[in-house]
Amino acid sequence: MAAWERAAYAKLNLTLDVLGRREDGYHDLRMVMQTVSLTDRLTIETGGEPGVRVRTDLAFLPADGGNLAAAAARRYWEATGRTPEGLTIRIDKRIPVCAGLAGGSSDAAAVLRWMSEYYGDGLSRAELAEIGQTVGSDVPYCVLGGTALAEGRGEVLTPLPALPACWFVLCKPPFPVSTPELFRAVDGAKLRCHPDTRGMLDALKRQDLPGVAQRLYNVFEDVLPPRKRAAVAEIRSQLLEHGALGACMSGTGPTVFGMFRDEAGARQAERALRGQWPETWAVQNICP
Ligand code: C5P
Repeated sequence: MAAWERAAYAKLNLTLDVLGRREDGYHDLRMVMQTVSLTDRLTIETGGEPGVRVRTDLAFLPADGGNLAAAAARRYWEATGRTPEGLTIRIDKRIPVCAGLAGGSSDAAAVLRWMSEYYGDGLSRAELAEIGQTVGSDVPYCVLGGTALAEGRGEVLTPLPALPACWFVLCKPPFPVSTPELFRAVDGAKLRCHPDTRGMLDALKRQDLPGVAQRLYNVFEDVLPPRKRAAVAEIRSQLLEHGALGACMSGTGPTVFGMFRDEAGARQAERALRGQWPETWAVQNICP
């Protein structure tokens, strides 16, 4: 048996806008995305019975069929016409699950990239993203990584000037948020505000970190149930109080992140928030 190790990176939404509901039931989105240094660790082994097996260190996560990493492997075999062989994917989960950080999608993207390399197929990022979109809406972005604009369902990607080096403090409050429910809530709501996506793109072009921080915005915050919304607002205030340049929820939450100029500021805020919110991490932006 041979084994390979891969890291799968979390993402943040610097902006997230919902433009409308589509005929296929999904929504058209416009989002500025960023990769950060919080990772899952994947160990992929070949051999054994044909088919894919997934093992994780979290008992409640779907193994095998329901896991996005397994779905990615199967879609890869289907798309390339290759015969499935035995694969065991062990995932050491460090990215919190159902937290708005694309942990599952990132695992799937790491598997797709590894498969193209392992089989020597040399598929481009665009070809891998096309396979990835059948696994989940965030997978194409996770295949690309870095700073990017994601539109359509999430699969129409435009690479952007890399976010200048900075730090983030991620803070996940201890309650779940249902992604389909939040999308339904957006359908029933008249959104008061939308992110200034154009201004965000200009700030990235100017490499203006405070300009980016001022424009962090996610429309889903407005449609959270009241108590969850209050917790998110509380975390944002705490991050700003501890020196964040700006703060916002990621994806459909509930993780809230603050942006910091340097590690010292981020570590100080991480220590300050951890007492009340144990799931708090200081991380860096990553530009692959
Ligand atoms: O594509 P994925 O399986 O990650 O999407 C999860 C859910 O999020 C979908 O079932 C849908 O309710 C919602 N969604 C959406 N529009 C998108 C992406 C996701 O409505 N662009």
